[in-house]
Amino acid sequence: MNNHTVTITDNLTGKSVVCPVKTGTHGPSVIDCQALPKELGMFTFDPAFMTTASCESAITFIDGDKGILLYRGYPIEQLAERSNYLEVCYLLLYGELPNPPQMAEFIKEINRYSLLHEGLLKFYQGFRHDAHPMAMLVGVVGAFSGYYHDALDIRNPEHRNRSALRLIAKMPNIAANCLRYIKGRPFAYPRNDLGYVENFMNMMFAIPSEPYEINQTAVKALELILILHADHEQNASTSTVRLAGSSLAHPFASVAAGIATLWGPAHGGANEAVIRMLQDIGDPKNIPEYIKRVKNKESSVRLMGFGHRVYKNYDPRAKIIRNVCHQLLAELNAEHLPMFESAMEMERIALEDEYFIERKLYPNVDFYSGIILSAMGIPLNMFTAMFAVARTVGWVSQWTEMMYEPNLRIGRPRQLYVGATQRDFVPMEKR
Ligand code: CMC
Repeated sequence: MNNHTVTITDNLTGKSVVCPVKTGTHGPSVIDCQALPKELGMFTFDPAFMTTASCESAITFIDGDKGILLYRGYPIEQLAERSNYLEVCYLLLYGELPNPPQMAEFIKEINRYSLLHEGLLKFYQGFRHDAHPMAMLVGVVGAFSGYYHDALDIRNPEHRNRSALRLIAKMPNIAANCLRYIKGRPFAYPRNDLGYVENFMNMMFAIPSEPYEINQTAVKALELILILHADHEQNASTSTVRLAGSSLAHPFASVAAGIATLWGPAHGGANEAVIRMLQDIGDPKNIPEYIKRVKNKESSVRLMGFGHRVYKNYDPRAKIIRNVCHQLLAELNAEHLPMFESAMEMERIALEDEYFIERKLYPNVDFYSGIILSAMGIPLNMFTAMFAVARTVGWVSQWTEMMYEPNLRIGRPRQLYVGATQRDFVPMEKR
């Protein structure tokens, strides 16, 4: 039995509380401070959750100092090289790699749910022609909960599994239709004879008037991007999905909340922000001046695609994708376009600069995924939507895990109140 404890003493009152220490299979142990309010009348204070473990999870492990990322125990490097996105989805969702019949059945299930309800397509029409795809994604995925509300008994594991499969299956179609709506193209329908990634590409780019040939290099690159973004433990969007889901809200509505969180440039919006930054910089000769602005605290300019809350070493996903990025740029003959030259020069300078070295700011996965998506011809405002498609499996796996918790309770943080003390209402004429 583990009898490791930490004692917290209030030096004002002399009262103490003994907190059990819980140990996981990897990573730092945690101090269970649930007894604090009762014993000491205090809460813990941890803005931005820098030191808070919000749940127990067996899905994804990150060691930010060593640059390790494991999905269900498997290193991301092995999955990136030897697996495929749908197999990774199965692994994240069910905890084990599938055997051949399990994989075949999983593909069948995903295909069964790939089509969208025709009524859902009408939601797109309400958006302006130039709406951001992430705005559409939040709206359409949220609206999606209206289609399956009565069919879902949230306490029934089979129903929950069906919801998870529906989301994974339909998300590429929902995202592709955002792109098609902006471009004024007819909505796309899935083709179940294609693989998941090819189908996604086909739905984004095929037009009815001529055949569309799917570029296999692009398929390989997109498959890798999807695998690398599939889950990342308790990041902001996943924590949002868990928090929304803890109220027993509909899973599609909870995922819509996660999509809203992903949108920001500090999170999933970084891949888009990287390219906007490179476009702003223009000629590679402007980089030193830009780096100067980044280092100037007054300017609040950040080098997008650099730094990470958890990785204080090279992001292992960035290491994998970096090689593919260089290969792809060479294959597409895009290496010498000014924007890509700027990206490579930026990477070189930042890796040698004291400011970035001291703060352990390395390029993250989105520095390279933005460049790859751009080289693949995917429009800039679709980048974060691509991330959302990839992360859907992470969101639904984490939601499913949470829903299996026997003592699931609604998430409800507390606060340090710093407002006015109690006072009496003053009638209008006396103010
Ligand atoms: N450019 C310049 N300086 C930076 C950057 C950056 N990208 N990131 C952090 N810093 C500096 C920051 O100014 C601070 O310096 P000082 O100690 O002198 O005040 C120090 O590094 C620590 O920064 P922080 O803001 O405390 O770090 P954080 O853990 O709160 O932020 C982050 C993490 C990812 C939000 C941040 O690094 C950032 O804004 N990066 C750019 C956006 C980006 O690429 N986001 C994608 C993350 S990967 C995809 C995902 O998982 O969602």
